[in-house]
Amino acid sequence: MADKDGLKVAKDYKVDIPFANNEGFYVKGANNLDWGMQKHLSNIFNPKSGNSVMFAFDHGYFMGSTAGLERLDLLLPKLAPYVDVFMGTRGAIRTCVPPQITKGIALRVSSGSSMLNDDLSHEVVAVDIEDAIRMNADCMAVQTFIGADGQLSSIDNLSKVINAGMRYSIPTLGVVAVGKDMARTDRFFKLATRIVAEMGVQLVKTYNCDNFEEIVAACPVPIVVAGGKKLPEPEALNLAYTVISKGARGVDMGRNIFQSEHPVEMAQAVAKIVHEGFTDKEAYEFYLDAIH
Ligand code: R5P
Repeated sequence: MADKDGLKVAKDYKVDIPFANNEGFYVKGANNLDWGMQKHLSNIFNPKSGNSVMFAFDHGYFMGSTAGLERLDLLLPKLAPYVDVFMGTRGAIRTCVPPQITKGIALRVSSGSSMLNDDLSHEVVAVDIEDAIRMNADCMAVQTFIGADGQLSSIDNLSKVINAGMRYSIPTLGVVAVGKDMARTDRFFKLATRIVAEMGVQLVKTYNCDNFEEIVAACPVPIVVAGGKKLPEPEALNLAYTVISKGARGVDMGRNIFQSEHPVEMAQAVAKIVHEGFTDKEAYEFYLDAIH
C-alpha cells in the first residue's frame, strides 16, 4: 500500500476528452467483457441513447413500507412502459412484477440494516447467485459504505458478488452509500466511486455533487445517479438534466418518481431528458401538459 504522506491531490481529469477504450461496444468500460455481460448491460442501457432510466423501489429493504410504495403491485405495471430497469428486492419483484413485463432487472442483493439501527453500514449478501440467475437479473446491487464503520464488510460483500457475477456473466452495480456523518463532497464521491469501480463493478450508482463531471471522468464504468429525497418536480428534473449534461449515463430514481403526485408522468418527463435530449424546462413543460 502506498505511503499516504505527501500524496498529491488528483486534479488532471481531462473532462473534455471522451473515454478512450471505446471501440466495439457502447457501454463505458465494457469493451473487454463477454457476450453475456454485454447482453445484460444492453438490457440496462438503451442501445440508442446509451442511457438508462432505472426506477428504484428497493427502499423497503431497510425502510419497510414507504410512502408511495405501499402498493407495488399497482404501481409497477403502470410505470413499466416508461422506465428501462426495475431496481428492487427479490421479494418485491417476484411478488409484484408480472414476468411478462420485459424490463431490465437490477436486483438488490445486500441487506442487513433497518431504520431502527443508528448505523446502517453493516450488511450481508442476502441473495445467492443461483437466485439472481433464476430471476434473470441484469445486475446485482450491493450497498458500499466507504469510510463508514461497515466499510470492510461491505467491500467483502461487494467482492463476493462481483466474483459470483464474473462466473455467470451478471454485472454488479456498486451503490455508493452516504451515511449520516459523511460529507457529500466531490472529494468523498471521487474516492468512493473510484474504489468501487476498481473493485470490478460494471456500473456505479452515486449522487450529484460539485464537479460531478470530474467524478464521471475518473470513473471507468457508467455512473447512474440516485434521485435522493423528494424535491419539487422542476428541481428533480433539473437534477436529472444536470447530471446527464455532465456525463451520467442515467438516473436510478425512486422518491422523486414514486412520491410525485403523478408518478407516471414524472417517469415520462425524466425519460425525455435521459433519452431524448430534453432540457429540464422542456421536460417540465411536457410534465405539465401530461397531467392536464
Ligand atoms: C439506495 O440505495 C436506495 O435503496 C435507493 O435505491 C436509492 O436511494 C434511490 O432512490 P431515491 O431516488 O429515492 O434516493
